[in-house]
Amino acid sequence: MFDESLQQQVRDRFMYVDTCPYQGSRIFFENAGGALTLKSVVEVNTELAGIPDNQGRDNPASHELVRIISEARDNMRIFLGVSGGPVFTGESGTELIFRMVRAAALGSAPAGNMVGSTLEHPATASASRRWAEIAGKEYRAAVHDNDRAAITPEDYARVVDADTRVATLIHTSPVTGMTADVEAIVRTIRAVSPDCIIILDGIQHAAHGGLALDDYDIDGYAVSAYKVFSRHNYGFAWLSPRLATLPHDHLDGTPDDFWEMGTRDTSAFACTSKVIEYFDWLGSQFTDSSDRRERILAAGEAIHDHEHDLVRLMIDGDGTQKGLRDMPEVYLIGGHDNPAREGLCSIIVEGKPCAEVVAELNARGIRTHVRKADYFSGNILEPLGRPTCIRVSMCHYNTPAEVLTFLRELEDIVRMHAEANAA
Ligand SMILES: Cc1ncc(COP(=O)(O)O)c(C=O)c1O
Repeated sequence: MFDESLQQQVRDRFMYVDTCPYQGSRIFFENAGGALTLKSVVEVNTELAGIPDNQGRDNPASHELVRIISEARDNMRIFLGVSGGPVFTGESGTELIFRMVRAAALGSAPAGNMVGSTLEHPATASASRRWAEIAGKEYRAAVHDNDRAAITPEDYARVVDADTRVATLIHTSPVTGMTADVEAIVRTIRAVSPDCIIILDGIQHAAHGGLALDDYDIDGYAVSAYKVFSRHNYGFAWLSPRLATLPHDHLDGTPDDFWEMGTRDTSAFACTSKVIEYFDWLGSQFTDSSDRRERILAAGEAIHDHEHDLVRLMIDGDGTQKGLRDMPEVYLIGGHDNPAREGLCSIIVEGKPCAEVVAELNARGIRTHVRKADYFSGNILEPLGRPTCIRVSMCHYNTPAEVLTFLRELEDIVRMHAEANAA
């Protein structure tokens, strides 16, 4: 866990860390719906919103915009851990994924199949189903393990074959919080289909840091800005040189690996640099290295350790407060001892509608979210026979005190529910 001084320095860097402008004081455990925004992001965004100039002109303002974009691209490469291939921005994580999947489906060898999994968000699942059909390829979904709420190399091995042209993989599930062993799954796919185009949805994982795309042996990776301390309305992605140069929509005369459509929003790039500078600053609290990549990796490790401790506290409680494990009325998706869990607990209070629990937590100043068995979460909730769950999603700026407050309030809600039932 971060020491108190560092925890405070971290929290001071974020907007609305403990208050909501519409509700007042609150604890924020809705990070999987959109993480807190850095104050530095808000500042640079405001500053650039007033600049009227366009890129590519010979004037001081335009030169500065081009410099900001170029610097941000370098920062994105360092953050993602990539040495080659373009990075580009688009409208949202979903839009970036659809474009990558479409190019892969249409540009890969004819026929064959495309593989995804039942753990995926509809961004990849819908894109793959749609473009597989148009491209004349069979779509197959690897079935995730219901008890562990995670996807494994063995699950992929059951559906991949030598004709698998495209595969998608979710890095971390935003519903169960389980992260995938990316390198092992990619090895499994490449062992039977070496040239498969592999696209990752990194949208839930990115805020947890430690990205190392060059190690993953993949072709595409998407990040959504509002999920990683920046603002809404853009995301960024990386492409391997071979995916980048497959036929795709772009303006005549632009390079073959150019994916951006029209004038760029310079502030999206500037905001991304602020996010990466934040990871850099956090890492510098843990290493003396003068290398930005090493500091970013150190930040990822520190975030991992802090969130791991928050999750442990959530599950096991401490001497003063019992955790989820000791609340028999509370069902935890994926189990109490799941090493794949990354900062998130999805729970159900047996016998009480999840929407009511979320509303009662809200009334007590704790923001969580109800996930329904709809097109976003039905793939996970339906096999469990559950119509809804309560997602409690944490981030490294959350504190042990917030976790303990949540547990205390949850325990009280459970007790009141039991009393009401007994009456
Ligand atoms: C894993 C995952 N993929 C895709 C998306 C969609 O991202 P966006 O809202 O940027 O389109 C989300 C958003 O919740 C997500 O969690």
